[in-house]
Amino acid sequence: MTQPLSFNSRDFTFGVATAAYQIEGASNEDGRGASIWDSFSHTPGRVLNGDTGDVACDHYHRWRQDIELLQELGIGAYRFSVAWPRILPDGGTHINQVGLDWYDRLVDALLAAGIDPWLTLYHWDLPQPLEDAGGWPQRETAHAFVEYARVVASRLGDRVKHWITLNEPWCSAFLGYHTGEHAPGRRDVRLALQAAHTLLLAHGRAVGVIRENAPGASVGISLNPTDVQPATDDPADIAASRRYDGYLNRWFLDPISGRGYPQDMLDQYASLFQPPASLSADIAAIAAPLDFLGINYYAPTVVQADGRDAFLGVASVQPTREAVTEMGWVVRPSSLSSLLRRIANDYPMRELVVTENGAAYADPPPTDGRIDDPDRIAYIADHLSAASEAIAAGVPLTGYFAWSFLDNFEWAWGYSRRFGLVHVDFSSQVRTPKQSAHWYRDLLARTRSSH
Ligand code: FCB
Repeated sequence: MTQPLSFNSRDFTFGVATAAYQIEGASNEDGRGASIWDSFSHTPGRVLNGDTGDVACDHYHRWRQDIELLQELGIGAYRFSVAWPRILPDGGTHINQVGLDWYDRLVDALLAAGIDPWLTLYHWDLPQPLEDAGGWPQRETAHAFVEYARVVASRLGDRVKHWITLNEPWCSAFLGYHTGEHAPGRRDVRLALQAAHTLLLAHGRAVGVIRENAPGASVGISLNPTDVQPATDDPADIAASRRYDGYLNRWFLDPISGRGYPQDMLDQYASLFQPPASLSADIAAIAAPLDFLGINYYAPTVVQADGRDAFLGVASVQPTREAVTEMGWVVRPSSLSSLLRRIANDYPMRELVVTENGAAYADPPPTDGRIDDPDRIAYIADHLSAASEAIAAGVPLTGYFAWSFLDNFEWAWGYSRRFGLVHVDFSSQVRTPKQSAHWYRDLLARTRSSH
């Protein structure tokens, strides 16, 4: 393990991240409506062990204590998401003031604790009534999102200075509507491609609405691009990696940075994706200038050509002899620095921010209040080193958020995968900072004191 190189704390944001459905619980309180994740997790067989986010970390009730913990750990920035169904329970225009009030108090308490709130508007919890009306494949959902963005930004825009429209639209579209691993669990690649377009449109149109209501705020989006590598130098594998890069990376990065959809992928999707008549206007909206691009990075993807895959002709392969996390994700920090350099080079953006990075490991239970998680410390330290190498190479990286503050509901894996710097006992709701949390606190303190 290498020590992270120095970061200039005046210009660099260190934070931790969470998402509403993964931590809040209180799924049926204070007027909250149902989301697609409530329906999905309550459908037998969808989530491991039948886990749901009904209670999760009970953060909805324990938020004051959680903010105190953030403060004790010296965390300067906290990325969280707003639950759309708490604000607009029917997905339409009826505003649930109690839901808005809750986030208002959260934001005030964060600011009072000296913690900068980074607000994500959509981290996957679409109001169920909108899914019933067709969900993300329906263009109207973009309109509903923009109105939701307006409601939240007009209430919190005077205080929240960092806004993220969407978290990982690739996951919403492809895991939600193609593979069905995530809510709403539909399985039709055509729907996924339409969903991706609506999500991008929703993002682009929301940017201006946020700016109008949050003067001077920084606005971005969090994508999940990765370093895609061919398994061999066989031309078929190289071509497969180019297609996979188009599917996961360029299909999102190109339009948000003003290039429209990549032509090779439009050709690839010719029989699957019917661009709307308004494509050129949509493409212009999607290209709304951003203040930063959020990058959620966990692992590289190694691929080979595979004719059995009817969609892209690609299979991902598990590289041997490389460490993996409990998710089975390869640990390769150098891929983070290559990815950052590639994005900075191909898509000039004002700022890049790592809005998620972290690892699930099977931690031992607390012993006398102590949890040793050396693998997580090594993972984060090595990725921070990779990030600082990218900065040294000229990448305008301005922040890093560890995923996650707390152990939480890890989507289809339920509570079986722990990403937290802080351990949560889900039966007692006791929080115990792991050694990684202490390590992160010390790192941040050293960074601050060196300036
Ligand atoms: C990301 C998600 C986040 C968390 C991590 C492990 O894709 O944005 O909510 O589940 O993976």
